[in-house]
Amino acid sequence: MADTDNVKESKDFCLDVPVPREAFFLKGSTALDWGMQNRLARIFRPPSGRTVMLAIDHGYFQGPTSGLERIDVNIVPLLPYCDALMLTRGILRTTIPPSFGQGVVVRASGGPSVLKELSNERLAIDVEDAARLNVSAMAVQVFIGGEHETQSIDNLTTLVDLGLRFGIPTLGVTAVGKDMVRDARYFRLACRMIAELGAQFVKTYYIEKDFETVTASCPVPVVMAGGKKLPELDALKMAYRAVSEGASGVDMGRNIFQSDAPTAMIQAVSKVVHEMMKPEDAYDLFQTLKNEKK
Ligand code: R5P
Repeated sequence: MADTDNVKESKDFCLDVPVPREAFFLKGSTALDWGMQNRLARIFRPPSGRTVMLAIDHGYFQGPTSGLERIDVNIVPLLPYCDALMLTRGILRTTIPPSFGQGVVVRASGGPSVLKELSNERLAIDVEDAARLNVSAMAVQVFIGGEHETQSIDNLTTLVDLGLRFGIPTLGVTAVGKDMVRDARYFRLACRMIAELGAQFVKTYYIEKDFETVTASCPVPVVMAGGKKLPELDALKMAYRAVSEGASGVDMGRNIFQSDAPTAMIQAVSKVVHEMMKPEDAYDLFQTLKNEKK
């Protein structure tokens, strides 16, 4: 029991200082509970309110992709430069140091390998395990227009409900099948459906034409997916355009870890995303950091 002798009378109530009433900084997230906002704030970094997520979850359907053969060797040195890491629980438990302090977005769906129909996914983690791992969000693929569209929507809504029980946000990922047209109309549909069905943020691909209509019509933050490996300057230009057109950051994998100089590349991407550094200047920075390392 607390000592009650000599208890000091409280007297300074700062009556002239108004209680702060700032809205939470992320789009569409003001009404979320504290735990969910706190988890989102581990992914999206003030003052820009954007994120550089490093996606290394490819192994869940394609095995040891080029650049991810040895995550301890190739990825762990990049960890200080990302705001969040997107990965499977297997890699998290086996390879990522528990002292990692930024956001963790765990891959929560899976099933088919590259050898099969990819849209035939199911949920692949128990939300209690996600909570045990102290993750900041759970990611699920959504195959709008895909063969198993309804099943993937069911995965999304089930995960959203579980996430709401535990205060863990859900990231809905627009998964584009081989035959799907990648245009603004499709991504507006997919992103909006994912947000309307409850995801707290969405990951989608950049498109040259009308990307700003995709971000504008989605009521939650949109994070740009990296996609296939591009020359570094092109990848930096794509990231710049995406954030200029309303994306709340990027979630890049191959464009970082398959670069000639991944550590330099992730730092250049971060400058673009958080400081709106022009892509040409970020590319110069990339070259300088790359040459310093040699
Ligand atoms: C797939 O759909 C996954 O989310 C990927 O494994 C990953 O996030 C893709 O990253 P990137 O296309 O930037 O290599």
